[in-house]
This record gives sequence, C-alpha cells and structure tokens, in this order.
Amino acid sequence: MGLMEPNMFLTVDPELNKQRRGQLGPTMGLANLKHMEPIIMAAGSKQLCSKWDRAIGQSKDGKTAKLCYHTDFMLMNFDIISSLGFGQAHRSLTSGDTQIADWVHSTCVLMYMQAIIPIFKSKLFRRFLIKPLYDKYDAFFAVGTQAIEKRKQLLSNLKPGDSKPKDLLQSYIDAEDPESRIRMTSGQVATETINGLMAGSDTSSNTLAWLPEDSLFMPGRNWIFCEQAGILEVSVVVFVGVHLRVCIAKWGACLSIITMPP
Ligand code: HEM
Repeated sequence: MGLMEPNMFLTVDPELNKQRRGQLGPTMGLANLKHMEPIIMAAGSKQLCSKWDRAIGQSKDGKTAKLCYHTDFMLMNFDIISSLGFGQAHRSLTSGDTQIADWVHSTCVLMYMQAIIPIFKSKLFRRFLIKPLYDKYDAFFAVGTQAIEKRKQLLSNLKPGDSKPKDLLQSYIDAEDPESRIRMTSGQVATETINGLMAGSDTSSNTLAWLPEDSLFMPGRNWIFCEQAGILEVSVVVFVGVHLRVCIAKWGACLSIITMPP
C-alpha cells in the first residue's frame, strides 16, 4: 500500500494532475495569498525578529547574538505552512518543538524508501520492521484530518455575516476544479497539506539562506574577511548604526546582528 493517496506531487495520472491543478491553483494566486498575509507575517518574519531580538537582548553584551539562521529559516517555514494548513498557530521556532519537522522528515524517508524498494510498502515493514516511521506518518496525517474536522465544525457554527478563516486549510476545503466541479475529500486535503510542508519548507528556507550568504559577496559593501579554524567570518556595515556580522561555519551558518549605538 502506498504511503499517501494520489496527489499533486506524485500522481502520474494526467487527469488527476489537471484536476488537482484546477483545485489548488487559485490557492497559490497572489490575491488569495494576500489574505493570508497576517498569518504568514506572524509565524514568519515577526516571529523570527522577536526570536533574534530576544537572543540579542539576552546576550552578554546585549548587542551580539549567534544564531543558526539555516535552522531558524527552516523552522519558520514549517511554522508558516503548518499554521496555514492546520488552521492554528504553530511556533516551533519559538518553542523549539521540532515535532512537525520530525514528521516531515519521516514522511520523506518513507516516501523515498517506498519509491526505491517497493517491499517497504508491505505489512511486514509497516507493522513491524519500520513501524516507528509509519507511526509518525500516521500521527502527521491524523493531525491534518483532525484540523479539517475542527474547521468544518467551526464553519457549521458561523453566524450569517461571519467570514471564513483565510488560510490554506480553508482554501483547500473550498477548492473546486472549475471543469469537473469536483472538490477534494478530507484525506486529499490532509495529503496536499503534508505535501505543502514537504515541498515548501526546505525550498523556501534554502532560498532564504542564500540571502545572507549572497549578500556577503555583493560589491560595494565594506567586507572584512577572516578565516579562523575553518570558520569564515565576514563583517559588513549595512546601514548607519547597524552592523551585520555573518559567520559561515563548517556545520551550518550562523548569523549575528550587532546593533551599534547611534
Ligand atoms: C522558494 C521556494 C520554492 C521553490 C524554489 C520551489 C521549487 C519547486 C519546483 C522546482 C517544483 C517543480 C516544478 C515542476 O516540476 O514543474 C515545485 C513544485 C511544487 N511545489 Fe514548490 N517551490 C518552492 C516553494 C513551495 C511552497 C511554499 C509550496 C507549498 C506550500 C510548494 C509546493 C509545491 C508543489 C505542491 C509542487 C508540485 C506542483 C505540480 O506538480 O504541479 N512549493 N516547486
């Protein structure tokens, strides 16, 4: 048995692919994403800045903090997509709770294992040999379907004039293929949300991680390079009063921001 039901990412059926594009396309349109902006900002840049500001405030000199920006971008993206997809605020970046990241990881591992070695789909593997991995996927999927049930309950209690929540979950529930008028089942909505978490988190966070890295090599900046024990440390004066100090370490990249006195 395959891990997920056929979905946007994995289907090889052209009809289903067309139908799913018809259903999901409008969700990713700019106009619709604009409505989701408050959730995106709260789980995204606002949460990130609060965390980094707090780290700076709690540092020894009150000016400098060392942070792993790669991990922080990753958790931030998990938070954005799971807040939008599961209909409630997720703040793993602040709490350090990496359960969703762990579920995404297990799901990816299972998906690849099943694709390469189909025997991993058998009951022997599912029930015994790699049960912990399957349990994580099941828990992940259950959270997705529970979120849909909860949302449907909320919708049934809406009074006339009340507006529906504006997030990925609602868009997926309402999504309709313009040609066939077919909507997605709860299982399909949960599957597409899980897909969004797998497809959208590392892509977005890796893209974001290029920003500080690329900006190091922009000409016309005041760069100071020094190499110490495998660590490339670069400092740059960005604007008056703000000193951005970036370290690219062997095992990850760390960003520290020093706010200079005016
Ligand atoms: C900078 C961030 C992102 C990059 C670089 C990126 C890159 C890509 C690429 C290269 C593809 C394959 C396109 C193709 O084969 O035609 C793809 C497909 C996809 N991406 Fe992204 N992506 C990003 C963000 C996201 C986000 C945030 C989501 C969802 C929340 C997402 C969901 C998907 C889905 C569902 C597909 C499959 C679409 C299809 O088969 O038609 N991606 N992405």
